[in-house]
Amino acid sequence: MPRDAEAQTPSSIEAPGEKAPAVAIVGATGAVGAELLRCLEKRDFPVRHLRLLASPRSAGRTLRFRDAELPVEALTGTSFAGIDLALFSAGAEISRRYAPLAVEAGAVVVDNSSAFRKDPAVPLVVPEVNAATLARHCGIVANPNCVAAVAVVALAPLHRVRPIRRIVASTYQAASGAGAAAMEELVRSTEAHLRGEPFEPKVLPHSAAFNVFSHNAAVDPESGYNGEELKFMAEVRRLLDVPDLPIGITCIRVPVLRTHAISLSIELEAPLSTEEARSLLAAAPGVRLVDDRAANHFPMPSEASGEDEVLVGRLRTDLADPSGRTLALFVAGDQLLKGAALNAVQIAELLLGQAMPHPSFGHPRDAGRGGSRRHSPSAREVAS
Ligand SMILES: NC(=O)c1ccc[n+]([C@@H]2O[C@H](COP(=O)([O-])OP(=O)(O)OC[C@H]3O[C@@H](n4cnc5c(N)ncnc54)[C@H](OP(=O)(O)O)[C@@H]3O)[C@@H](O)[C@H]2O)c1
Repeated sequence: MPRDAEAQTPSSIEAPGEKAPAVAIVGATGAVGAELLRCLEKRDFPVRHLRLLASPRSAGRTLRFRDAELPVEALTGTSFAGIDLALFSAGAEISRRYAPLAVEAGAVVVDNSSAFRKDPAVPLVVPEVNAATLARHCGIVANPNCVAAVAVVALAPLHRVRPIRRIVASTYQAASGAGAAAMEELVRSTEAHLRGEPFEPKVLPHSAAFNVFSHNAAVDPESGYNGEELKFMAEVRRLLDVPDLPIGITCIRVPVLRTHAISLSIELEAPLSTEEARSLLAAAPGVRLVDDRAANHFPMPSEASGEDEVLVGRLRTDLADPSGRTLALFVAGDQLLKGAALNAVQIAELLLGQAMPHPSFGHPRDAGRGGSRRHSPSAREVAS
């Protein structure tokens, strides 16, 4: 996108054309916020004006976007005046309080938190999986839980051909899933461990260095499942549109900085050979097949980190099911990207396609005014 350096003020990016939306990022200083900035820049997302919002602690800091250093402002109830698109990544409480204010001010919200994911009126969207559901948004679109989003990119291409009847999953989740502070804590705990010094964790419940432990989300005393596991079950069912899909899952934190990995065993309606599964996945959008048995080379966080694609491999028939209908696979996806920022920007790209002419940006207030809500996303718009 051509830029006009002369036209830049410290808090605005001048974009060509009046159709470029004014964008706000809530939680711009966080782990997801940093990736949102990178994704908008890398994907050349049209931005007429960018407002960076965080807690009062960060007010006065600056963050770089394209050629400008932009100030971070403290989030308030009036932060959304003139904003067309608000990307939220500051936790569920902030989203619950401020997303309705953003919608009231005329913005469309793409929310990375769990605040609206269970709300049937709010579409829960992974563009490669269920882009069509976006058309019925009423101002807020929910981005799924990070591990659910990564998993469905791999599951959907198989499910479309052989419906999934049951899922058993185990996750290997990176520290960054708990935010920027947890990433830093993993580095510091590792340094302390190597020096032979004691380390007192403050963000995660246990020292992460050279350790694995059950996911830090609170455990439901009745079912024994933690919050992350419950989110995965509910959201995968919603994303695959199988409300009663039986799912069992164990979520684990591992000492990895970014990228969640998932071991999946999926029972299908009928057998699917590994060769068929491989060719379906090789052709699937957002997937990169990494399945080299001879070289023992399969998906790894070190190769998935910073990548847009979800790596999928270790494909084999699960021998625990004598019927031959169960497939085992291993997945690694950068959850800060496909599980958060990238998915949110892909949704925004679809919304932008919906929103002609600007400034409606597909907002419900424009329904019936020749606005955008009748638009169905095209395959080209969905492509990452
Ligand atoms: N990390 C992931 O992999 C991931 C994946 C999917 C979804 N999410 C969701 O995305 C959200 C952010 O996660 P994160 O990992 O980026 O967390 P993070 O690194 O801890 O960042 C949190 C962000 O929220 C801001 N914030 C905190 N309190 C605020 C307040 N009172 N008013 C305004 N802003 C406030 C922080 O600003 P300050 O810097 O000023 O404190 C920071 O920018 C969460 O809802 C999380 O569940 C995260």
